[in-house]
Amino acid sequence: MPAMDVKNRGIAMALLFILGLSSILPLCFSDANQPSLTKKPQPPTSNNRIGSSVVLRVQGNVYPLGYYSVSLNIGNPPKAYDLDIDSGSDLTWVQCDAPCKGCTKPKNQQYKPNKKNLVPCGDQLCAGVQSPGSHHCQSPNDQCDYEVEYADHGSSLGVLVRDYIPLRLTNGSVLGPLVAFGCGYDQAYSGPTSPPSTAGVLGLGNGKSSLLSQLTSRGLIRNVVGHCLSGRGGGFLFFGDHLVPSSGVSWTPILPGSSVKHYVSGPADLLFNAKPTSVKGLQVIFDSGSSYTYFNSQDYRAIVNTIVDDLKGKQLSRTTADPSLPVCWKGAKPFKSLGDVANLFKPLTLSFTRTKNVQLQLPPSSYLILTKYGNACLGILNGSEAGLGNLNIIGDTFLQDKMVIYDNEKKQIGWISANCDRLPES
Ligand SMILES: *[C@@H]1O[C@H](CO)[C@@H](O)[C@H](O)[C@H]1NC(C)=O
Ligand SMILES: *[C@@H]1O[C@H](CO)[C@@H](O)[C@H](O)[C@H]1NC(C)=O
Repeated sequence: MPAMDVKNRGIAMALLFILGLSSILPLCFSDANQPSLTKKPQPPTSNNRIGSSVVLRVQGNVYPLGYYSVSLNIGNPPKAYDLDIDSGSDLTWVQCDAPCKGCTKPKNQQYKPNKKNLVPCGDQLCAGVQSPGSHHCQSPNDQCDYEVEYADHGSSLGVLVRDYIPLRLTNGSVLGPLVAFGCGYDQAYSGPTSPPSTAGVLGLGNGKSSLLSQLTSRGLIRNVVGHCLSGRGGGFLFFGDHLVPSSGVSWTPILPGSSVKHYVSGPADLLFNAKPTSVKGLQVIFDSGSSYTYFNSQDYRAIVNTIVDDLKGKQLSRTTADPSLPVCWKGAKPFKSLGDVANLFKPLTLSFTRTKNVQLQLPPSSYLILTKYGNACLGILNGSEAGLGNLNIIGDTFLQDKMVIYDNEKKQIGWISANCDRLPES
């Protein structure tokens, strides 16, 4: 596996949301003192946009940090929490100021729950966050214990709380909706996952418990979320459809009824230098919570072999002396930028075959990492080795320098090349 300074937080796939939740009724909140915005969601028509969107600045990078995060204000008075953005899971949680296991933040940067803002386990939101088969809810007023397991075997356990999350809309209004989220008092990080440096996770999924669903169920924004992660670090995240370009976006359907909930698409074939490879028919999970891209063992091998074969005769040699990642190349001198080496590599393309001409273009800068040792390493890893079984996970390396849009109303994922360095004006 990648060495210790390489993080791949939250290759998140909450395993707990697979149960049939479709029968759960729309949420019913008693947040009378929030700014009154009780509009019902409008039917999705292209020129009928609900007021606005929320745009948040993103920090972080794939290497060396290993995550992208946003600073989210919670509470009244608000306190800022740095949260790993994760399109692979639903529930947002922050480290809890309670006897806390696996918490990495000092107490004053943890969220302090109180008796009054605990979500009771009779609440409709609670059913979706408890582990299957658990009998936590003895009486409807008990606290709601939640549990999230991530595909990389990390997990977070805690209680569901509800508090204000002030959000500035692009139309200038400021909202302070009461939102349910997790107060995590028991976090486990296993195997390759180093404890994250963030205070928690911002789940971008579309499950009932996600921030997105809670905002859209009250008609505040459209059920759309997206991110633009810069290869130079930073970027932005948005809730709502305000920033989605009206043309030029490549769209592919979100696969319904897949055993992995969340943003799965496919089938996709991998092209190398625009030519077919043996890697075909993949289902892929779009996961901003994973820094690297993971393929199942067989396809991983095929990709590595294809790239290695193509480099024969070029002035690059494999090196095993770089602990950053498993597959690395060095030059005569340490590389100063990926530009020094990118021209020796060919582009990859993920071609989504159900829809014509829908391709995710991956120039070498989208799959190579320049390490602190000046080597170029492959940002694609063996999923089996990371305990992911046969899952194929498209992580941040592949998603960089694109606006990636998860449209839950039209049930499609889209992307378009973008400059993610500048926060869009709002
Ligand atoms: C902004 O959008 C929100 C939510 O759609 C709406 O309720 C609010 O009135 C809008 N504010 C302005 C200033 O238009
Ligand atoms: C990927 O990992 C699995 C499990 O550790 C291993 O059996 C397999 O050989 C690895 N594949 C490659 C190409 O390294």
